[in-house]
Amino acid sequence: MNVKDALKRTLADADGGYISGAALAETLGVSRNAVWKAVKALEAEGYIIESVTSKGYRLAEHSNRLSEELISAKLNAKVLGSCIKVYSEIDSTNNAAKEMASAGAAHGTVIVADKQTGGRGRLGRTFESPAGTGIYMSVIIRPDFSLETSSMMTAAAAVAVAEAVESMSGCEVRIKWVNDPYINGRKICGILTEASLGMEMRSLDHAIIGIGINVRSVKEVLSPELSGTATSIEDETGLALDRNALCAAVIDRLEHHLSRLEERTFLESYRRREFLTGHRITANIGGRTVSGKALGIDDNANLILETDTGEVLHLNSGEANLCRISEQ
Ligand code: BTN
Repeated sequence: MNVKDALKRTLADADGGYISGAALAETLGVSRNAVWKAVKALEAEGYIIESVTSKGYRLAEHSNRLSEELISAKLNAKVLGSCIKVYSEIDSTNNAAKEMASAGAAHGTVIVADKQTGGRGRLGRTFESPAGTGIYMSVIIRPDFSLETSSMMTAAAAVAVAEAVESMSGCEVRIKWVNDPYINGRKICGILTEASLGMEMRSLDHAIIGIGINVRSVKEVLSPELSGTATSIEDETGLALDRNALCAAVIDRLEHHLSRLEERTFLESYRRREFLTGHRITANIGGRTVSGKALGIDDNANLILETDTGEVLHLNSGEANLCRISEQ
């Protein structure tokens, strides 16, 4: 690690505390002049480093820069996030993760970007990913569970995001089936999971869980047509959360739920947050439009729908799309 990255990591580990120039020089094994130069280099990259003569240096809480070191400093997960790559700009973190997975990248590798120029959403839509506001991340998973169990990964990821956001903001996060975390009735996050089958076709070689969270205000930056449905954590709660800390919290919760996916422990949190149950909905299942009442979530995270003709369907997120919710 070079002096600049080592300094960033040391300041991040201090969790907002000051460290003197002399202590930094000793920890990093360099001169005080080299510490000063590294501080200047970090400031030039946009980090806000406060210095007080009698105390030393500290990373300001409002530094809004994503970095490997700052995410790792907050991370508790053991396997997910053991390799993290942060880009200031990329076409799509899912594309990068796919390429890396095909080239053999390890289970748990995380790709994060500050901005995506070709962010992708479900159903071939684009996902607007402006700089400085969101967390756009993709996690490479090499599952050791069955194909059937794998289909619940996206629902578990939605729970991971909801729990991480809730723990840092104190604000209730609900989930709209399929897998969209919502605050105050508007979407704050989208999740796109893409899987690659193994040779046997009965298991996954790898899956990419792509998560896009609107963290800082998006009022001035998202296209007007999204303003009715999409929002950000800051726009709903007034809190400008630390993106590095939130990214680490999402990885922690994701590791927690994926390591227990067979036991389906995430379902209790999913069902409590899910808000279609009890509503009349219209969904599209492979070209067929069905309407009826959402009865709940089954043990495979499918939505149970009682159609107007009395048929009971279990809608799988891979096959069905929600078209409309109508009041009771
Ligand atoms: C949706 O709501 O339609 C899903 C959006 C998923 C967006 C994330 S951002 C990180 C990752 N990279 C992408 O290109 N897409 C996913």
